[in-house]
Amino acid sequence: MKKVILTTAIALAVTATASAADAIKATVHADQAGAKINREIYGQFSEHLGTCIYGGLWVGEDSKIPNIKGYRKDVFEALKALKVPVLRWPGGCFADDYHWMDGIGPKDQRPSLRNNNWGGTIEDNSFGTHEFLNLCEMLDCEPYISGNVGSGTVKEMAQWVEYMTSDGDTPMARLRRQNGRDKAWHVKYFGIGNEAWGCGGNMTPEYYSDEFRKFNTYLRDYTGNKLYRIGSGASDYDYNWTEVLMEKIGNRMQGVSLHYYTCSGWDGPKGSATKFTNDQYYWALGKCLEIEDVIKRHKAIMDEKDPKNTVGLLVDEWGTWWDEEPGTISGHLYQQNALRDAFVASLSLNVFHKYTDRVKMANIAQIVNVLQSMILTDQEGTGHMVLTPTYHVFKMYTPFQEATYLPVDLPTETIQVSKAYFKEKEGAKDAGYRPCPMLSASAAKTVDGSLVLAITNVSLDKAQTIDFSLEGYQAKSVSGEILTSKKVDDFNDFQHPEVVSPKAFNDAKLKNNVLTVQVPAKSIVVLNIK
Ligand code: AHR
Repeated sequence: MKKVILTTAIALAVTATASAADAIKATVHADQAGAKINREIYGQFSEHLGTCIYGGLWVGEDSKIPNIKGYRKDVFEALKALKVPVLRWPGGCFADDYHWMDGIGPKDQRPSLRNNNWGGTIEDNSFGTHEFLNLCEMLDCEPYISGNVGSGTVKEMAQWVEYMTSDGDTPMARLRRQNGRDKAWHVKYFGIGNEAWGCGGNMTPEYYSDEFRKFNTYLRDYTGNKLYRIGSGASDYDYNWTEVLMEKIGNRMQGVSLHYYTCSGWDGPKGSATKFTNDQYYWALGKCLEIEDVIKRHKAIMDEKDPKNTVGLLVDEWGTWWDEEPGTISGHLYQQNALRDAFVASLSLNVFHKYTDRVKMANIAQIVNVLQSMILTDQEGTGHMVLTPTYHVFKMYTPFQEATYLPVDLPTETIQVSKAYFKEKEGAKDAGYRPCPMLSASAAKTVDGSLVLAITNVSLDKAQTIDFSLEGYQAKSVSGEILTSKKVDDFNDFQHPEVVSPKAFNDAKLKNNVLTVQVPAKSIVVLNIK
């Protein structure tokens, strides 16, 4: 991770700048309402990986840690406040090693297995279908089940759907009733495999498409429940994968997934979550923002193959992927979460809003204790919990759920960040550059008729004054919150849980329907305009 070549690259280009003395002139177009921002864009992902489930969401009823029927109370309450719309489970790679029948029935009779993907940890299956679906009901969120194509059978998957959703006198519904649950659960989202190109079976897109068609045939819609069937989609820049699936599966699926991680240097160190240089910081944000181009290109293929827009693009794994925290168990992907992660969350959500007509869902990886999580719990089991900067962004952004997208024009200084970083050997000069705008914004008309405006200033040293003219909206009052900290590598830990936390924001003023906002360097401001 030495010899970063960004310093010169960063100084390279400026696409548009306001002089320091002048306010930047921007416009919120309330007169040009776009699509509804699907609340599922605020989705979460939970996997049997490290301490996401055990120790994170679930401690068991006999734990000393306060719990509600086995679910960690503090974590549950924090998630309830987040209005989680959808929760994906049981993986990830784990899903294609998971056999759901191991996770039902009396707990002391459930078999254990080795979690081959994630550190070889022994999985006792005490958290299974009932525990997951009951949690979703308690959180009032949609479950999103990932079915096992890689090592499972068609019969196994078909029976799982029957077990969860059949209310009739069918064999699997009877088994469910024997296990204590009378009524069928409501299960809408069902993934047919995960990362079929990799840990989900190392398939070609052609082969996977046939597998999808076969598995899908036997997944029934039981009375009162209609499955939204999701194809295991591409990773990052694999446009061919999307093309083949759209061609061969087409609208047999209602959604196709996309996975995009920030800083996924698969073949080398990914960098520390909390110790990074300014160059590494801008590099990560440039990589994060490249998701816009990636979405555009997958969307273009989908627009061509599916002009009626019947298949959604679901970014069902995204977020930062840094080195595991020193001293934690290898393979558990436990990482800290700094203010930099909050920027990745905010910038990514802004992009998802913009493409919400095709992007129907997104699931950040992952909800607790894994990768870019909302919440960290103490790995020693002392019962401490901390909310991450990413949690705060999701909370501040809740008014965007189901709001109507509004375009924003915001001129900004843009730096160019070299693409080379992990691939030093390839040479920085040949690798090309990615743009990293200093300012980004997203606006929407909320369900209660007010405006929500999020402004993200990633500049490490430059505050900005922005005059937003509000076209098509008569504003009377403004209030808001800001997320910032002294340093961009600041984070919250169990001893200092409030280092990065939202504060009331008072530097937004309305005059003649122009909203003037003074946005400090390295900050995220979310305003509610009535
Ligand atoms: O989120 C961690 C892993 O990343 C998931 O299990 C897998 O789908 C992806 O490769």
